[in-house]
Amino acid sequence: MDKTIEKIVSLCKRRGFIFQSSDIYGGFSAVYDYGPLGIELKNNISQLWWKEMTQAHENIVGLDSGILMHPKIWEASGHVGAFNDPLVDCKQCKSRYRADEFSEDHASIDWQDTQCPKCGTTGNLTEPRQFNLMFKTHAGPVEETGTEAFLRPETAQGIYVNYQLVQGAMRMKIPFGIAQIGKAFRNEIIARNFIFRTREFEQMEMQYFVKPGTDDDIMKDWKEKRLEFYFEKLGISTDKLRFHEHDDSELAHYAKEAWDIEYDFPFGWSEVEGIHNRTDYDLSRHEEFSGKNLTYFDQPNNDRFLPYIIETSAGLNRMLLTVLADAYWEDEDNNRTVMKFHPRLAPIKAVICPLLKKDGLPEKAREVMEILKPHFKVIYDQQGSIGKRYYRQDEAGTPFGITVDHQSLEDDSITLRNRDTMEQDRISIDQLLNYINDSI
Ligand code: GAP
Repeated sequence: MDKTIEKIVSLCKRRGFIFQSSDIYGGFSAVYDYGPLGIELKNNISQLWWKEMTQAHENIVGLDSGILMHPKIWEASGHVGAFNDPLVDCKQCKSRYRADEFSEDHASIDWQDTQCPKCGTTGNLTEPRQFNLMFKTHAGPVEETGTEAFLRPETAQGIYVNYQLVQGAMRMKIPFGIAQIGKAFRNEIIARNFIFRTREFEQMEMQYFVKPGTDDDIMKDWKEKRLEFYFEKLGISTDKLRFHEHDDSELAHYAKEAWDIEYDFPFGWSEVEGIHNRTDYDLSRHEEFSGKNLTYFDQPNNDRFLPYIIETSAGLNRMLLTVLADAYWEDEDNNRTVMKFHPRLAPIKAVICPLLKKDGLPEKAREVMEILKPHFKVIYDQQGSIGKRYYRQDEAGTPFGITVDHQSLEDDSITLRNRDTMEQDRISIDQLLNYINDSI
């Protein structure tokens, strides 16, 4: 099977998962809209993450901070000064590149002697210029100095500047964590590979506040826990995930140690989530810029210190792309394409089909619908042959197909089709809810 990103993009549009933004105006680069199935899938993933990070850990609580914040925060965090990508232009064909696309070690490249990958000419590439990735805007009705604000490029800073308020309100004792899901914005120079790198995206970040000296062990712990989440909760293939450690040239300005969880996408191994030891860099910078004391008092040990932070930072959209890429399967034997989502993630859990549009079968099918509808997303479909109805739902990743036939009227049973094996079992309607619930 040749699994390409183009095939996934096409299925996503056809089945209502993901559309290019502003489609009727010719599109808006590097922004995507999530259709009916896309939003269900995205919600299922983010709810799993939220449950895993907050409900399953007594010492992690949630937060929802603003996208717009005091502009000084971005000076303190280093984003105003250091959140740059090196940008290279071709004077001939006007193509634009990130310098690190040519080589990680782009400082040693002779640009005058380098060929433009698009037009093939040599001598037309400019020296790299630093390009800040933050989106600027103005707060208030008048655009003047002092009103400039930024759309946040990461959700993390909203957690750092609220950490003492959260700690005090919830009487948290170190080690403790704060989790947040929210939009982030980066004016990416090159946005490609569908929803992998976009200008507007969502992050799911958890910042874990720890005592300095305990950070290395806690980092190891979180690495294991986060990888397990992909296998155990999302059901991603074990051979498609790996760790990549950042060397000195890759480390972000705030990190002492950083590991990426990478997935083997159709376009190669790429980062889905980062686990970073940010030390006390962020809190010490916010102390410096705000003039506030951000230390933590450890009462039992009569000890005061600035906590270290272990961060787990995942892109919700990239995690969704991981789930899509992993689920995509061309079943050549049966001439169909199937999204093999774990039933827990599937946007629609079951399709309910009356075999015919007459003889009381639609009414019986509606009864089944009413039983299941309060518990999870199910749909009703009586359009076209039963085979066509099932194949449509195979592409949508719906794990169960329920058919109501004449026997259903006699003994209250239905046939339940398994999406992956296409096997059908006869089961009674009153067992149906438990059956599907068990699979989720
Ligand atoms: N707070 C740390 C931080 O933001 P990052 O490695 O820059 O670290 C974390 O980003 C995660 O956010 C990445 O692993 C990725 O999943 C997601 N991400 C970053 N930039 C993105 C973009 N332009 N489009 C989609 N997801 C992005």
